[in-house]
Amino acid sequence: MSKNQTLGEFIIENQASFKYTSGELSRLINSIRLAAKVVNHEVNKAGLVDIIGAVGSTNVQGEDQQKLDVYANEIFIQTLTNRNIVCGIASEEEDDFIVVNSQDENHQNKYVVLIDPLDGSSNIDVNVSVGTIFSVYRRVTPVGTPVQLEDFLQKGNKQVAAGYVIYGTSTMLVYTTGHGVNGFTLNPAIGSYYLSHPDMQFPEDGKIYSVNEGNYTHFPQGVKDYIKYCQQEEGDRPYTSRYIGSLVSDFHRNMIKGGIYIYPKSSKNSDGKLRLLYECNPMAFLAEQANGKASDGFTRILDIEPTELHQRVPFFCGSKNMVEKAEEFMKNA
Ligand code: AHG
Ligand code: MN
Ligand code: MN
Repeated sequence: MSKNQTLGEFIIENQASFKYTSGELSRLINSIRLAAKVVNHEVNKAGLVDIIGAVGSTNVQGEDQQKLDVYANEIFIQTLTNRNIVCGIASEEEDDFIVVNSQDENHQNKYVVLIDPLDGSSNIDVNVSVGTIFSVYRRVTPVGTPVQLEDFLQKGNKQVAAGYVIYGTSTMLVYTTGHGVNGFTLNPAIGSYYLSHPDMQFPEDGKIYSVNEGNYTHFPQGVKDYIKYCQQEEGDRPYTSRYIGSLVSDFHRNMIKGGIYIYPKSSKNSDGKLRLLYECNPMAFLAEQANGKASDGFTRILDIEPTELHQRVPFFCGSKNMVEKAEEFMKNA
C-alpha cells in the first residue's frame, strides 16, 4: 500500500484479490465513485439553489421524498445503467427492481446493485451529514437473461461488495469487497479520492450508544433494559448518547470511536424501520469486515433470508462486545 494512494490506483492494485477477476466489479466500484462525486457536488450546493425541500411525491414506503433523494436516485441509476455495468438495480426509492439491458443478447453483466441513494434525508434541510449505501451481489439466474426477483432476494452473506458514501465535513467513500474495509476521502479541489483510512476496524468495546430514545416507551423490554444499562453509573459507564438520524453517519462515527447503533422494533413498527436489503445488509457486511457485529437482536443479519425487496428488520450494529451485551439483554428480557 503506497502513500497518497488514490481510489483508482487502489482498485487496480487490488483487482487480483477479487474472487472473479473479469474487471467487472472494479468497473462497478468506479462508476459508484463517479456517481458519488456528482451527488456530492449537488449536496454541497443544497443551501444555494432551490433544490432543498420535499418534491411533493412520496416513495413506495409512504415517506416524503426530498428533491435530493430523487436526484441521487436518478444519478446512481443512470451511471450504472448507461455504462452497462450491471444487469439489475433495486433502489429504496423505486417500487420494483430495474432490469438493465435485457434486450442485448450479448449482455454478459453478472452483478446486481441495491442502493439507498440518500440516507438520512431529513438532515438535508439543516445542513447535516447524509450518505449513500450500496450493496452488490452476483446474479443467481443465467447471464444474458433478464434479472429476476431472486437475484435481489439473496442473503446478506452472499454480498460481494458493499459500502457507503458519507457527505460530511469531508466526503468519504468507505467500502469492502470482503477483504477488510477501506476509507477514501475526496479532495474536492482535485476530484480524487485518497486512501485516508486503510483497514478500518470497530474497537471491540465502545462508549457511544445511538438510538432514537424518543421512541423509548414503545421499545421492547430488552432494549429498554440495555439503555438503562448504558446510562448506569458503573465502571466505564454511563456511555455517551449520540444520534444523528443518518445511519451512515452514526455507523461511521461508531466505527471510528467505538459504539453501537440500534433501531429496534417498537409497538409502532413491528419490524423496526430500516430496510434489510438497502441498509442493514450492506452495513452488516461492512461491520463484520471491520471486526464489528450486526444482528436483529437475536440473529445475525447476514443470515436472514429475505422475502421481499422493501423488507424491514430491527438492527443492532457496532462494536462486538456492545452488540453482544445488547443481545444478552434481549434474550433475558
Ligand atoms: P432514509 O433517509 O434513507 O429514509 O433513512 C433514514 C433512516 C436511518 O438512516 C436513520 O438512522 C433513521 O432512519 C432515522 O429514523 P428516526 O427518525 O425514526 O430515528
Ligand atoms: Mn436510509
Ligand atoms: Mn434513503
